[in-house]
Amino acid sequence: MIEKTKIAVFASGSGSNFVAIEEACRNGELNAEIAVLITDKPEAYVAERARELNIPISVFSPKAYGSREKYEEAILQKLEEDQVEWLILAGYMRLIGHTLLDAFPSRIVNIHPSLLPSFPGKAAIEQAIEHGVKVTGVTVHLVDEGMDTGPILAQEAVRVVDGDVNQTAEAIHAVEHVLYKETLHRLFTNQ
Ligand code: GRF
Repeated sequence: MIEKTKIAVFASGSGSNFVAIEEACRNGELNAEIAVLITDKPEAYVAERARELNIPISVFSPKAYGSREKYEEAILQKLEEDQVEWLILAGYMRLIGHTLLDAFPSRIVNIHPSLLPSFPGKAAIEQAIEHGVKVTGVTVHLVDEGMDTGPILAQEAVRVVDGDVNQTAEAIHAVEHVLYKETLHRLFTNQ
């Protein structure tokens, strides 16, 4: 059997994408293993979900370090100990700096709830609705030093539901949970 790809998921929020990826690893849709959940928010719901799923959690609070370099060096040490090959961002609310970008060239992936390059940054679904667009969507992309700017790997359109943020977010999440694992599968198998 081909060896499993070792991944670290980075998340700061509720963790529904983390759960979808974990499930795909468990049921074999994704030939990968989550070595660790990295979070900057120990109180986030994603941490509770990781505990329930028996996935190791490492909390790194940026405030405990003097700079982004020091913060990322501490994370990098943990990733190296765990022999992690890919970093998977799933609602991680920070920009990635040079320490991690240099250590994982073209091996950091993010998912964003819009059709990039439209509506990068925070509150992408709200931005789309305020703009009055009728179709928005989901983008999976490689991470570079910018905010949601790296090379696009996959996109899928999602209709805006009644100009409503909650209903549209629900539709977007449903698409995310499938698109992320499928895109990661292609990446990990070089397709
Ligand atoms: C997702 O919409 C993702 O696109 C964005 O952050 C959200 C995370 O949701 N980057 P969840 O925490 O995985 O439920």
